[in-house]
Amino acid sequence: MIERIFPDPAVLSGAALEHEVLAAPPENRRSTRPWVSFNFIASIDGAASLDGLSGQLGNAWDQRVFSLLRQTSDVILVGAQTIRAEGYGGELLSHAAQQWRSDNWLSPHPPLAIVSGSLNLDPGLEVFTQAPVRPLVLTLASAPQERRESLSEVSDVVNVGEASLDVARLIAELSGRGYQNIHSEGGPTLLGSFAAEGRVDELNLTVSPLLVGGAAGRIAMGGHHGGAASAAGAAGELARSMNLARILKADSMLFLRYVRPDM
Ligand SMILES: NC(=O)c1ccc[n+]([C@@H]2O[C@H](COP(=O)([O-])OP(=O)(O)OC[C@H]3O[C@@H](n4cnc5c(N)ncnc54)[C@H](OP(=O)(O)O)[C@@H]3O)[C@@H](O)[C@H]2O)c1
Repeated sequence: MIERIFPDPAVLSGAALEHEVLAAPPENRRSTRPWVSFNFIASIDGAASLDGLSGQLGNAWDQRVFSLLRQTSDVILVGAQTIRAEGYGGELLSHAAQQWRSDNWLSPHPPLAIVSGSLNLDPGLEVFTQAPVRPLVLTLASAPQERRESLSEVSDVVNVGEASLDVARLIAELSGRGYQNIHSEGGPTLLGSFAAEGRVDELNLTVSPLLVGGAAGRIAMGGHHGGAASAAGAAGELARSMNLARILKADSMLFLRYVRPDM
C-alpha cells in the first residue's frame, strides 16, 4: 500500500498513484522556463549507492515511482558515470507507458541525453546500439576529436561548454530541441553541477529504510568552485533551500518531492 502523507493524506490505489505522479505539477505548469527535475534514492544515512549501484537501495515501490516520474519527460538526462555503472540499455519505458505517452501527445520514447566531458563512452554500449531513439551526448569543446567522431556514428554529439560544463547552455540546447520537461536520473556529479547554478527546479528523493555506512557518496557532489567572490563554503558547499511539496509513504520507504522556493 502506498499513501500520500502530505498534502491531503490519502491511500493511493494503483490508478490514483499514477494520477498523482503523472499529472503535471502546478509549479511545472507555472514555470516560464524549461523545467529541470531530478530523481534520486538515498539510504537513511545518506548513501547514494550500495556496492557501487543505486538499484540495491530500492524495491518494487521505488521502481514504480521511478518509472512514473520518467514517463512524462521530454528528455532523460544522465551523467556518463551513471551510464557506465548502471547500463541504461534498451527501451526505457514499458509498452503501457509508451501507449500512455502516445495518448498524451508525447513521442513514445523520450531520448536519452548523456553528459560526458571526456567522451569516454564505448559506441558499442547497449545504450547506443539498443536505443529506440538516437541518444544525445552533451560534451565539451575540449573533448578528444577521435572519440567525438566514433560516438557521432551512434549519437548526436553536441558541445555544451568549452573546458567546463555550462549548465545554462545545456538547458538551452535541450530546450531548443523542444525539450521543456528535462528529467534527470543523476548522478551525484551532475546534480552537484545543476545545484551550483541554481537550476534544480524539482528534486524527487526516495528515502530507503536502510543504514549503509561505508564510504558511499551522497546524492549531490562537487559542483562548487569556491574562490574569494564565491558564497560557497571552504569545502565547496553551498546551501540552497527547497520547499517540500509532497510526501508519499510505502511501508517504511518515503518518497519526497521538493521544488525550488519561488514556484
Ligand atoms: N542514488 C541514486 O539515485 C543514484 C542516481 C544515479 C547514479 N547513482 C550512482 O552514482 C554513482 C556515479 O556517480 P557520479 O557522480 O560519478 O555520476 P554522474 O554524475 O552520472 O557521472 C559523472 C560523469 O558525468 C559527466 N559529468 C557530470 N557532470 C559533469 C560536469 N559538470 N562537467 C563535465 N562532465 C560532467 C562526466 O563524465 P566523463 O567522465 O565521461 O567526462 C563525469 O565523470 C554510481 O555509483 C551510480 O550508481 C546513484
